[in-house]
Amino acid sequence: MVIIQGGMGVAISDWRLARSVSCLGPLGVVSGTALDQILARRLQMGDPGGHMRRALDHFPVPRLAERVWDDYYVAGGKAPGESFVTPPMPTAAPSADWQALCVVANFVEVFLAREGHTNPVGINFLEKIQIPHLPSIYGAMLAGVSYVLMGAGIPLKIPGLLDRFVNHETATYPLTTTGTSPGEGVSLSFDPRELTAVDLPPLTRPLFLAIIASDVLALTLARRANGRVDGFIVEAPTAGGHNAPPRGALQLNERGEPVYGPRDVVDLDKLRALGLPFWLAGGSGTPERLREALAAGAAGVQVGTAFAMCAESGLRDDLKRSLMAQVQAGTTDIRTDPKASPTGFPFKVANLPGTLSDPAVLAARPRICDLGFLREAYRQDDGEIGFRCPAEPANLFVSKGGDGSNTSGRACICNALMATAGMPQIRAGKHVEAAIVTMGDELGGVARFLRPGASSYTAADVIAAIAPAAS
Ligand SMILES: Cc1cc2nc3c(=O)[nH]c(=O)nc-3n(C[C@H](O)[C@H](O)[C@H](O)COP(=O)(O)O)c2cc1C
Repeated sequence: MVIIQGGMGVAISDWRLARSVSCLGPLGVVSGTALDQILARRLQMGDPGGHMRRALDHFPVPRLAERVWDDYYVAGGKAPGESFVTPPMPTAAPSADWQALCVVANFVEVFLAREGHTNPVGINFLEKIQIPHLPSIYGAMLAGVSYVLMGAGIPLKIPGLLDRFVNHETATYPLTTTGTSPGEGVSLSFDPRELTAVDLPPLTRPLFLAIIASDVLALTLARRANGRVDGFIVEAPTAGGHNAPPRGALQLNERGEPVYGPRDVVDLDKLRALGLPFWLAGGSGTPERLREALAAGAAGVQVGTAFAMCAESGLRDDLKRSLMAQVQAGTTDIRTDPKASPTGFPFKVANLPGTLSDPAVLAARPRICDLGFLREAYRQDDGEIGFRCPAEPANLFVSKGGDGSNTSGRACICNALMATAGMPQIRAGKHVEAAIVTMGDELGGVARFLRPGASSYTAADVIAAIAPAAS
């Protein structure tokens, strides 16, 4: 497997893109981020094409699939100005209904990506979005996912839960909680048998690839994870999406972007010494970069931006067209924004009018937190677990003990990324959530996939250009 199509949330690497890629030989990876909300919205849009229904019909516990259908499906789709009904925000003690929605939604995405071929399919998660991990991974395994890829954190406790879900055993996951000492926080728990109430045959344990930006982290994962780590994706700060922060004190360049230096370069000798396969990511979508990666001992490359811009991706068509016009005019502008994402990780943002890259659009958005994936868990004065996000109303964030200086410039990327995938929330019949687009530094380079006279390209064009014999 020389090429991996990187997981891209929210719903940019959806089942269509991952299926197209896997059918062609490389590894197609669906994004596992926010799939509960995505399934709920696709159903409220009337399930165009009937794909959700088809996948639900294959869910091994029909009772749970029907419940999701009954709760969210709107025949013919909701009226254009109507708001989406939003499933509850995840909490430390989630309801059985929400857990079922998560299991079913992850099953649906992987099932559809695997439909009609026998090649492997992967799923990508961000470690920071912890509450959905257990039901999401279980749902993806029920659908036969072959790889779980995880970045944006230190996923030490993921490999062990993959082992437990093979036999549908209860698994737990420690919820990182500000204000608690290690071992003192909440442990999330999920019992598949309690939810399904049926005996299902054993599942296949997917391979686990950790996404890292430091050889020290790779070593820690290889030595201390609670189960087998099967390989690494080595992601450079040129990659689209979230980037690891630079090591040491944060310094900004004249554009206000974090400055990366020699300490941020992964030592591939140390990585090779671990004896596990690795793939290089970040501006790696060219035959030259693939050759260099192979020469450096990598198994191949992981590519995101080139696939995000191809016809099959879940990026909204109008946004794709605007970006492609910039690509063709040579005017792309990608900024590594240290503040935009509530995670605190630098986040690559494409400068595109009408989106949250425009400070006026960002300032005009009423601050509201109602999806809550990136909320931080913290211990309240009464000992209970609370949740806060620097993109929520500033006074609310401060009343929860948050640092007020942390709130300016923060975008609600949960709502914005749903809009980017064509499922924007509409509030009070008029305020439509604006999009935010993330792309890698080398967005401009996707021009090389365009055939003469064309203004779009496919996943097959990307693969043919990078590695004609890729498999
Ligand atoms: C639109 C977009 C969304 C992304 N979302 C995620 C994500 O949700 N999780 C993740 O681990 N990586 C994410 N990435 C990173 C990709 O998986 C991949 O590693 C990266 O894009 C490779 O670098 P490139 O963009 O230069 O090809 C995203 C990248 C893009 C372009």
